[in-house]
Amino acid sequence: MNWRKLRTFLLWVLVLCLIPATRYYQIDVPFLRFLEGSRHVDPLTLHLSGEFVESNLGTEQNPDGSVTVRMIAQQYLFIPHCILVPAGVPVHLRITSADAVHSLTFNGTDYAVKILPGTISQAQLQFPRAGDYKTVCREFCGAGHYAMRSELKVVPRNQFPVLRPAERGTCAAQ
Ligand code: CUA
Repeated sequence: MNWRKLRTFLLWVLVLCLIPATRYYQIDVPFLRFLEGSRHVDPLTLHLSGEFVESNLGTEQNPDGSVTVRMIAQQYLFIPHCILVPAGVPVHLRITSADAVHSLTFNGTDYAVKILPGTISQAQLQFPRAGDYKTVCREFCGAGHYAMRSELKVVPRNQFPVLRPAERGTCAAQ
């Protein structure tokens, strides 16, 4: 093999390595699906059936005092728009995306949850103090990315209402 051929060969290797490196999302999503088969959801039918139908979104109180929060991220909002949780209890977050890759963060905390279409992202959160937290998307997800934000209201545990099913997805009960 002469030098010129070797150089061409190395250049091709470099190019073939660069393509996947810039296509993180396309590789990442199918790979995660493969690893986490049970956490697969179809982004096209989220609103129609299964865990992420509208009536099931928001805050669900568990018998052990913890809460489960189910959300959808989509261009360019989080659903529900306002989440109510009690302070000082474990918050089991389950969230998926209806379209692009998003990242859910809570201002004033270190929590950051990456959200991929087709996969349920899970996180264990806990908010020690009552207060209002802005929730902000930190993954560039398109033209409206910078407007993609919503709210999390944390209320003292002893003031947290028993949520009726219709109140799970709003902060109106507060
Ligand atoms: Cu969603 Cu940026």
